[in-house]
Amino acid sequence: MPSQIFTVEDARAKAKRRLPKMVFDYIDGAAGNERLAAENISAFENVKLQPRALVNVENRKLNKSFLGRDWGLPFGIAPMGMCDLAWPGADEMLAAAATKFNIPLALSTMASSTIEQTRERTGENAWFQFYVSGSKEPAMKLIDRVAAAGYTNLLFTVDVPQVAPRVRDLRNGFQAPLKIGPKQFIDFALHPQWSISSLLKGVPTLANVETEADGQFKRDSGRGGVDWDFLNYLRDYWPHKLIVKGVLSTQDAVRMKQAGVDGIYVSNHGGRQLDSAPPSVVVLPLMRKALGEEYPILLDSGIRDGESIVKALALGADFVMMGRPYSYAIGADGQRGLDTVVELLAGQISAAMAQIGVTDIATLDTHNLFNY
Ligand SMILES: Cc1cc2nc3c(=O)[nH]c(=O)nc-3n(C[C@H](O)[C@H](O)[C@H](O)COP(=O)(O)O)c2cc1C
Repeated sequence: MPSQIFTVEDARAKAKRRLPKMVFDYIDGAAGNERLAAENISAFENVKLQPRALVNVENRKLNKSFLGRDWGLPFGIAPMGMCDLAWPGADEMLAAAATKFNIPLALSTMASSTIEQTRERTGENAWFQFYVSGSKEPAMKLIDRVAAAGYTNLLFTVDVPQVAPRVRDLRNGFQAPLKIGPKQFIDFALHPQWSISSLLKGVPTLANVETEADGQFKRDSGRGGVDWDFLNYLRDYWPHKLIVKGVLSTQDAVRMKQAGVDGIYVSNHGGRQLDSAPPSVVVLPLMRKALGEEYPILLDSGIRDGESIVKALALGADFVMMGRPYSYAIGADGQRGLDTVVELLAGQISAAMAQIGVTDIATLDTHNLFNY
């Protein structure tokens, strides 16, 4: 039977049924009253594309070069901690999709697969997302490992000076690494397919950071010590491409560009950090104006369909990323669900390009927006 997933929302609904509540809420949830998580999506709905007629759009090109490489599609996989919670083996599935569709896979510092495994699984499509917690030495050791494994793109996330309280996680008693008490046990028992698979594969752990033993890294521990001095230090230390993720201030972005950063990743962490922050897509045009025509800009937060990807590219993003859509897809139907979602997003992009008279994704700009 085919996957029966025709939209990202289909995948979300299916994942909601299949996953323990605690797991679904960890993926789906956001900070505060979760207003921003909803606005991230509605802000895209407020942007309109400009339909055009009588353009020969029989052949359409969706591949795009970015950061010195050609990618199969103009979107990639945003870093997510403990993806394997979405389904055992999720990290392998993401790597397989990254390879199959030639898209980037950003491995989180909080991933359940090692830096080396992921590089081996998907080669140069693997990027690494970096968090600094506690002292500098273990963090720089991690960076040494990332460099030794052959990564050349580092995403340095700066919007988690502290993990924001997420009400659903608090209510469900969610912790990383997982702690299973009576409440969670009942939740798991009600979702036996996930629970048995997880039991067989092993509960996901944090594969790249020490957790309990010497206090090097705890999910909830302060990451607030990072400052401009550290950014300068990291810029000197890391010899390859450095992208800063989680930037919403044009002032910060300009200063990062001046500090030698290679690209800005506009993101509000999918609404998971500051509920009153602006939607990324609202910040994007200001960012493009502040950073100039040529400077690399990535964007995520709230993309749920191909038309939103087209809008983001038209508004000035060079490349977009998504987080939850892939986890929903895996939670809904494993590898098949994931491949289906990537294919349906690509199909939606292509269909939108046909309607607005665009044959090459790289040519999108504000002329493709209505009344802009
Ligand atoms: C379950 C989950 C875990 C995440 N973990 C990380 C992380 O470890 N590092 C990071 O930089 N961003 C993390 N993010 C944020 C994503 O990289 C991305 O910014 C966000 O998901 C984009 O919004 P979207 O889910 O609406 O696409 C996480 C997001 C989710 C949903």
